[in-house]
Amino acid sequence: MKPTVLITGAGGLIGGYLVSTAARWAPQWNVHGVTRAETDVTDPMQVQELWRRSTPALVIHCAALSRTGACEQDPARARRINVEATERLAGLARDIPFIFLSTDQVFDGTKGWYVESDAVHPLNVYGQTKADAEQVVLENPAHSIVRIALTAGTSPTHDRSFVEDMLRAAAKGTKLTLFTDEYRCPIPAGPLVRALWEFAAHPRSGLYHLGGSERLSRWEIGELLARRYPELRPCIQPGSVADYHGPLRPPDLSMRSDKMQVLLSFRLPGFRQWLSNDASLSDDPWDTGQ
Ligand SMILES: NC(=O)c1ccc[n+]([C@@H]2O[C@H](COP(=O)([O-])OP(=O)(O)OC[C@H]3O[C@@H](n4cnc5c(N)ncnc54)[C@H](OP(=O)(O)O)[C@@H]3O)[C@@H](O)[C@H]2O)c1
Repeated sequence: MKPTVLITGAGGLIGGYLVSTAARWAPQWNVHGVTRAETDVTDPMQVQELWRRSTPALVIHCAALSRTGACEQDPARARRINVEATERLAGLARDIPFIFLSTDQVFDGTKGWYVESDAVHPLNVYGQTKADAEQVVLENPAHSIVRIALTAGTSPTHDRSFVEDMLRAAAKGTKLTLFTDEYRCPIPAGPLVRALWEFAAHPRSGLYHLGGSERLSRWEIGELLARRYPELRPCIQPGSVADYHGPLRPPDLSMRSDKMQVLLSFRLPGFRQWLSNDASLSDDPWDTGQ
């Protein structure tokens, strides 16, 4: 009998990739991917029942209200999903490894190239709920937090990754202003979940960063994507955060993933390098099976 890994948020971008790549990267596990249709993680009774059915040996908790706009619109809902559900699951998992996916958005973006020991200072509700959930998870010294960078991929619902958002906007003819002075370390979903599976094989406690090895501006990311998806070309234009007057945005969320990198059998790719690879022209450019 293989041990069971419980993956919440299996209907989402990263949970979906974890489930679909498990046979390749984690054949030692019996994978139980849970979607919202099976269990609402904010419902204590449903979660108890899930726990009884699944008897997991490991949890990778991906379920979240992950869209910053949705969190701003309904902070109470964001707290129920991102903090309270995490607390409940981490409590049930008190005697087994628990890997919580957090975000680069726990930082305010004033420093850049963040390391795990840097102080958090979220600017939005999403980042605040994730930072609060991190504190809850860290109460168990055996549990792990992996802060994920901007992830490129194809989600089961085709509406979750930033690439899907951009392609949808382009299809509607919407102009996208991409900041030349806002930075991220984007990572394709394929190497991201491969790294998560390798980490899950020997989970270490504490905080880890996981992103691409290259820091790119939003505009640079858009230009790279437009080479792969020419339909983006007429829709993207460069801009500056200085000319933007909406809610606060963290300017530089680049993260160092060195602490995670030393645990891995492969190099975390840079986004440019990934997209210049011939393999990225396969059916799913974000998971070439490398
Ligand atoms: N993708 C990124 O670029 C990125 C970057 C940094 C961190 N992260 C973190 O990584 C994790 C996974 O992200 P993701 O991109 O895969 O997010 P996602 O695509 O939005 O997936 C999250 C999943 O959680 C589910 N969910 C939400 N509320 C639920 C509930 N009450 N009960 C059960 N399931 C519920 C969602 O279901 P519905 O579809 O029904 O809402 C969705 O399938 C999240 O913690 C996110 O914060 C992601």
